[in-house]
Amino acid sequence: MEESPVIRFFGGEDFPVELHKVRVVQKLHLIPIEERLRIAEEAGFNTFLLSTRHVFLDMLTDSGTNAMSDRQVASMLMADDAYAGSQSFERMQEAVQEVFGMKYILPVHQGRAAEHIVFQAYVKPNDVLPMNYHFTTTKAHIEIPGGTILEIFTDEALKTKSTCPFKGNIDIQKLKDVIAKHGAAHVPLVRMEASTNLIGGQPFSMANLREVRAVCDQSGIPLVIDASLIGENAYFIKQREPEFKTTSIKDILLEMCGLSDLIYFSSRKVSSTRGGGIATNNVEIYDKLKDMVILYEGFLTYGGMSVREIEAMAVGLRETQDETCVSQSPSFIKYLVETLDAKGIPVITPPGALGCHVDAMQFLPHVPQTEYPAGALAAAFFIASGVRGMERGTISSVRNPDGTDLLADLELLRLAMPRRVFTLSQVKYVADRLIWLWENRDIIGGLRFNYEPKVLRFFMGRLEATTPWPQKLVEKFRQDFGDSL
Ligand SMILES: Cc1ncc(COP(=O)(O)O)c(C=O)c1O
Repeated sequence: MEESPVIRFFGGEDFPVELHKVRVVQKLHLIPIEERLRIAEEAGFNTFLLSTRHVFLDMLTDSGTNAMSDRQVASMLMADDAYAGSQSFERMQEAVQEVFGMKYILPVHQGRAAEHIVFQAYVKPNDVLPMNYHFTTTKAHIEIPGGTILEIFTDEALKTKSTCPFKGNIDIQKLKDVIAKHGAAHVPLVRMEASTNLIGGQPFSMANLREVRAVCDQSGIPLVIDASLIGENAYFIKQREPEFKTTSIKDILLEMCGLSDLIYFSSRKVSSTRGGGIATNNVEIYDKLKDMVILYEGFLTYGGMSVREIEAMAVGLRETQDETCVSQSPSFIKYLVETLDAKGIPVITPPGALGCHVDAMQFLPHVPQTEYPAGALAAAFFIASGVRGMERGTISSVRNPDGTDLLADLELLRLAMPRRVFTLSQVKYVADRLIWLWENRDIIGGLRFNYEPKVLRFFMGRLEATTPWPQKLVEKFRQDFGDSL
């Protein structure tokens, strides 16, 4: 397995080079801007409601959209169809042991199923759950059994422009204070999310994880890692934490998992497949959770996953030990972030995992947060480019009891970079269209809901423009680009 791929350039310009080749392709369609406007209106300006038929580059998420390797696809042919005792499951167990150093694995149908089981088992009414930052489904699954999330990030975490290498760190003093205030009996778990999704794919450091572990040990509180993006977090530890400069990703992953009591993950992210899992070395934790897997997911040797997915997951997990694999998405993100940053476009720095995050509050300072700047920017960018990003801001939040919006800490347009999916020329197109939108940002206005579901409204909610700004954007595009798509 390759370690630390380094390519140096003769000409001065530094750019990422794909260390894989394309062998299966999917035709893409770039429809004209007038049609993109019509489609955006039909989808209620919600990028979740677009069909990929109308999307050119799908940067909604990396979840379930990473490209599989030839070895993963090949492994699916060897799947052992069996309700119980499948050899595919044994191969997955071996991979989990090798990659995470954990003996027990409970398969589940996806990451949120793992969250459902872990938090149902651990959280009681009035419990608090300290963490570096929440993820949407995590928060919901902690609140359902009556718990409250407590985000105890450091002062740097929410600064969009920063040079802090580990914005995903927990503030150790705040963690101690939370435990002192609520008492360890009301803190069932401490949660660390690898490559913290909602604050821009930002990693935590090994030093911080070790300190969190020490505090957990003092109070007898189990430490859980959300390992959905653990490969990328391990890569950033190697890149940014001097102690690990020459350590392999394999060893970094083993140390990270060794510091936790249990991990759970979405395989849609970590292993470029489907499904998810909960892993531990502690038989008591395994026993505490396993009955719920049988009840809600399926028998313990498949847990809601197909055996084909289980085979591909085993191979995909081993690929996270390969730096070529886990650095691919971060290196493309870095390229995009640095290109946009150089043009003065407000993007989250330093570049993280998962995607490039554009700060919509700075991009559109004239759009009030109650008119959803991140949602408006996502809609405007789809109209301008055919590229689908995701709103991560107040639309992804909820309402207060008095009916007003609970305004999000950050208003972000996330442009996800699924692993091994896009070419560098496609990334350059994204940058070009975003630069044009930045030049024309004054045209973009706000959105308002015209259909708003009560739960996780960002998935199915529909909105409309508060003024005819989308039409004006199309007119300006035609003036500037002529008959271009
Ligand atoms: C950090 C994190 N945890 C949990 C989940 C939920 O996983 P899934 O979408 O597989 O249910 C996600 C999904 O994106 C995630 O990013």
